[in-house]
Amino acid sequence: MTAGELPRKIRRVVVPPVKCQGIKTKLVRFILANTRWNGRGRWIEPFLGSGVVVFNVQPERALVNDINPHIITLYREVYEGRLTPPMIQEHLTKEGKRLLTEGEAYYYAVRERFNQAANSLDFIFLNRACFNGVMRFNQKGKFNVPFCRKPERFRPALVTKIVNQVAEIQKIMRGKKWEFRIGDWRNCLNEIDADDFVYLDPPYIGRHTDYYEHWSEQDAIELASVVQALPCGFAMSMWKENKYRSNDHVPQYWHETIQRTFHHYYHVGSTENLRNAMEEVLLVKPGYETSAVQPEKKTAKPVQLALADKRSRYWVRPSK
Ligand SMILES: C[S@@+](CC[C@H](N)C(=O)[O-])C[C@H]1O[C@@H](n2cnc3c(N)ncnc32)[C@H](O)[C@@H]1O
Repeated sequence: MTAGELPRKIRRVVVPPVKCQGIKTKLVRFILANTRWNGRGRWIEPFLGSGVVVFNVQPERALVNDINPHIITLYREVYEGRLTPPMIQEHLTKEGKRLLTEGEAYYYAVRERFNQAANSLDFIFLNRACFNGVMRFNQKGKFNVPFCRKPERFRPALVTKIVNQVAEIQKIMRGKKWEFRIGDWRNCLNEIDADDFVYLDPPYIGRHTDYYEHWSEQDAIELASVVQALPCGFAMSMWKENKYRSNDHVPQYWHETIQRTFHHYYHVGSTENLRNAMEEVLLVKPGYETSAVQPEKKTAKPVQLALADKRSRYWVRPSK
């Protein structure tokens, strides 16, 4: 089997050290089980985010891109060995102690330092100490997420967990040919080979308006036309519908794709009735989809697929 070949069942999801909105940790098994790729070309991700998808695919060759320079710089430094797990351990332990003694003010001091002169160590500290792991920048490109209000945040157990996450992704990338680019998605969808595979996870239309995340309907329409003209396979994640509305963009611009759907819940409160159901869709180029996905565990229960793909069923784990 070629490295990265799909579909593949993964025993344990590799969780990356960076958190961001729209992170696909809970959907990565579903994505990899529904996608067919021979693993021979490059795995291309124009909207990398946390990188959870590529770190689970583990291709031999990859091209990963994001408009947010801090994410790409951090991963590039880890890939090149310029940022190591011991460096991260030392930094988070030292800064964590100051956060504990000086409290909230220290978080804002680090944020200010980062906004004056960005570096990957401060970026990971802020990403793991900010409110809800949100990644947001103001109109001038300055990180502006408030503190999570937990000065005791960097306990040894959390530091070890983050350090292990960095060590794991470094091991995954070791000896492989991965290219890291900073910029707009358009810059990495040229010179595509038929054996490449493009996985796309752009921001949701109209939801984000920060420095690194303007995503208009026009962007989404252009992406649909560029991607569907590519000579290689692709899969794209998108929201399909929630309790209140459905995403018209899907039937309008992606009707020629195979659609696999996945229900999950966003927790907006502590009780059952505060859970919001969301249906996510994976839009796959015909010929690059798998046949019906098998359950991962014996405890999984089948759920009938709704509108899009009447030929198949998918499985979700029963909610606890
Ligand atoms: C939904 S997130 C990707 C999440 C990722 N799949 C994960 O699981 O963590 C979208 C990403 O697209 C990036 N982005 C936004 N606009 C972009 C653009 N025009 N070109 C490239 N990347 C962009 C954002 O910085 C963000 O990291």
